[in-house]
Amino acid sequence: MLSRPRRNRKSAAVRSMMQETQLGVNNLIYPLFMVDGKNIKTEIKSMPGNFRWSTDLLLKEIESCIKLGIHSFILFPAVEDGLKDKTATYSYSKKNFYLKAIREIKSRFPEITLISDVAMDPYSSDGHDGLVKNDKIINDETLPILAKMAIAQAEAGIDMVGPSDMMDGRVGYLREALDEKGFTETSIMSYTAKYASAFYGPFRDALDSAPKKGDKKTYQMDPANKKEALREALLDEAEGADFLMVKPALHYLDIIHVLKEQSQLPIAAYHVSGECAMLVAACKNGWLDYKKAMPEALLSIRRAGADAILTYFAKDYAKLIHENK
Ligand code: PBG
Repeated sequence: MLSRPRRNRKSAAVRSMMQETQLGVNNLIYPLFMVDGKNIKTEIKSMPGNFRWSTDLLLKEIESCIKLGIHSFILFPAVEDGLKDKTATYSYSKKNFYLKAIREIKSRFPEITLISDVAMDPYSSDGHDGLVKNDKIINDETLPILAKMAIAQAEAGIDMVGPSDMMDGRVGYLREALDEKGFTETSIMSYTAKYASAFYGPFRDALDSAPKKGDKKTYQMDPANKKEALREALLDEAEGADFLMVKPALHYLDIIHVLKEQSQLPIAAYHVSGECAMLVAACKNGWLDYKKAMPEALLSIRRAGADAILTYFAKDYAKLIHENK
């Protein structure tokens, strides 16, 4: 036998020498949920190990993550129902606790990367990412609202805005609006290929942001489609995105691969709440070994071509790397 692939697997040293994919803590982005108030840390039922944090406690949490080597965070606000309205006015209000928190976090930890969520759903009484009129999600009237939100976040010091709304033309619209206000350094991580997925359930529990009526299928993509992701990617590139994102991640590895091959931009992948919940539930039942299955899931997303992975497992992965050192 001339060729024996097993020779390259014969020892840990040989295996590690020829390992094709590396996943570092530097590749991870940690999503964090925030609430208004003080001294609050409530666990999210469908996302064990994830909490809604008030800013004072969140600062401590971020500090402990930094010690583990995590430098990038994406922030989501859980907004009281009483502050939600049709046009998401609280999203850019001076009183918005999320904007105040961004200011505080950036002044404490200027070196980290903070990413925002730009979409109406956390602030909308309709629970949709865009403006609702006669049961329709109105694209062009949503854009100025998103721009106000993005500018308010940029003013607060966000490093990257993350439009997750899937409205047409929003990347270009936001780029122009940010530039006009002098925020040429604020990056755009675009949710380029965001699918109308069933795997966002736990996240919507966390923010209480499920649509009040209908679904998101007129703006989020059909899980059956791949070419359409490329179409979205080319548009986002042309409109000035700095990062392209695929979401969900694990069930969409082929989409990550296509975008990585076809685009010059870095690719992010969002390992979403439902994908994490499945794995955590199986581990809690003793059916899977968390310390083995969790890093394998993350590695597969990286192998598919993701430069950055947004994952609720970021902190656990970082701890694991430290344990194994
Ligand atoms: C909404 C948004 C969603 C997620 C991130 N931003 C949910 C949705 O589109 O309904 C989901 C993330 C997750 O499930 O982890 N703008």
